[in-house]
Amino acid sequence: MISITQNIALRKITEQDVDVLSNLMSIIYPAAYSFLWADNGVWYINEQYSKANILKELKQEKANYYFVLVNDEIVGNFRVVWNEPLKNQQILNLVKLHRLYLHKNLQGKGVGKAIMNWLEKEALLKNYKAIWLDAMDAKQQAFEFYKKLGYQYHTHVFLSFKLLKKDVRKMSQLYKLL
Ligand SMILES: CC(C)(COP(=O)(O)OP(=O)(O)OC[C@H]1O[C@@H](n2cnc3c(N)ncnc32)[C@H](O)[C@@H]1OP(=O)(O)O)[C@@H](O)C(=O)NCCC(=O)NCCS
Repeated sequence: MISITQNIALRKITEQDVDVLSNLMSIIYPAAYSFLWADNGVWYINEQYSKANILKELKQEKANYYFVLVNDEIVGNFRVVWNEPLKNQQILNLVKLHRLYLHKNLQGKGVGKAIMNWLEKEALLKNYKAIWLDAMDAKQQAFEFYKKLGYQYHTHVFLSFKLLKKDVRKMSQLYKLL
């Protein structure tokens, strides 16, 4: 367990946690992102949080996957990929934040910021020069959050998933120099 504030802690996700993670995301994801999808995101959740995909992501050696706990209760998760380059970015030694999701009851209470502060400190300790991430433009809340923390636009792509609604396909890559 990694304690990052008095009441916020992180616990590394392991192969034993596949069902817990998958059940958690079946609650968190639709509450935040169902509006993007023709099927409310059912296909996407089944793809991303299938046992096979979670195990595959857990096996990636340069990545860590964490549960977020507030007062000892699991309320979210995120994944960090160390040493992950960002296309057309000249800086070496980058870290990718891959998915940060908090339960809606815990949003807007400073938990996300505490996690990002922790990640910045860890990245600096390991000599990384920047953090980057993907964010859907249509999810204004997340965009404003990252903007507030100093993340800048780098580039964008349009996702081609069939079930993703046409007007919300833009995904931006944002980064912050450390
Ligand atoms: C996006 C998310 C991670 C942010 O975490 P959070 O704990 O809710 O955010 P915090 O309470 O730590 O907010 C940190 C700062 O961002 C600001 N902020 C957060 N949301 C904002 C919004 N919609 N508009 C303006 N500012 C916002 C806060 O005011 C706060 O500023 P302060 O430090 O001056 O008080 C979280 O809300 C979440 O999981 N959302 C759903 C899933 C998601 O979209 N994840 C991102 C995937 S890329």
